[in-house]
Amino acid sequence: MRHLIDPLDLTQQEITQLLDLADRICADPAAYQEVANHKKLATLFYEPSTRTRLSFEAAMLNLGGHVLGFPSENVSSATKGESVADTIRVVSCYADIVAMRHPKEGAPLRASLSARVPVINAGDGGHAHPSQTMIDLMTIRQRKGRLDHLTIGFCGDLKFGRTVHSLTAALSQFEGNRFVFISPEDLRLPQYVKNESLEPTHQIYKETADLEAELPHLDVLYMTRIQQERFFNEEEYLRLKGCYQLDEALLQKAPQDMPVLHPLPRIDEIKKDVDNDPRAAYFDQVHNGVYIRMAIILALLGIPDPLTGKTVLDH
Ligand code: NCD
Repeated sequence: MRHLIDPLDLTQQEITQLLDLADRICADPAAYQEVANHKKLATLFYEPSTRTRLSFEAAMLNLGGHVLGFPSENVSSATKGESVADTIRVVSCYADIVAMRHPKEGAPLRASLSARVPVINAGDGGHAHPSQTMIDLMTIRQRKGRLDHLTIGFCGDLKFGRTVHSLTAALSQFEGNRFVFISPEDLRLPQYVKNESLEPTHQIYKETADLEAELPHLDVLYMTRIQQERFFNEEEYLRLKGCYQLDEALLQKAPQDMPVLHPLPRIDEIKKDVDNDPRAAYFDQVHNGVYIRMAIILALLGIPDPLTGKTVLDH
């Protein structure tokens, strides 16, 4: 049985196959509307979410399946002290696949060890968010036509931003990419991400605080919000909030074909005036989310693609 806990659970070839499947679904959604008939997805969300939970649920409904679950910790038995391991054993009796979001790093991995059905990590604390990464990759591939030989700028809270950690890991698997990590000193990329993702494949990267100076040299810009809920004290957050604000005037310094991605929600790091710029790609990401999640559900359930007759992941 396969789970999706970390982007490195997928090989480069599997990433490409999943993206191809998402493209086929996007081109002909009607062909997939009954492939998961009678299957059930459980969404176990112990942390707030808009896009991730709703798009997983929409994805399962689009495939002809059903959804059940809870949207916050305080309506589950976690408030009575139940462990994640016990909860997943129980939910394995009700559902065929689970998407779990949890404030504790490693909770979905722990759950997968006790699960009898595939588990998708829908975000664990400040650690990882692999399904968002697949969305980011789909969007970059649509905009740039490739996932290799790109210079990608990551800007904002690189310390707590789990989408940054996961996208860095995935893009490290593709040849010739260069990474520019733009953040205040206190919000730099954690050392473990460098050790696990950048160093094994000898990636070229640099760290800086200066967004404006880097903009002309980027192929892709990935903006993130400062992750208020993960700070240990309020003063520290207040000192760092608002440190980057991309507006249309600043964007004039960037190449005309440099997409601006953001996993959303945004606070003030991308101004509204950027929304009408053709480089704004963050609502494309939202659009792609449902197709990616349909592809992930099909792949983990081992359901063959009706158009090719093949499954996309080895089980
Ligand atoms: C992100 C997340 O939850 O990590 N949102 C999302 O899933 N689209 C980014 C964030 O919360 O800042």
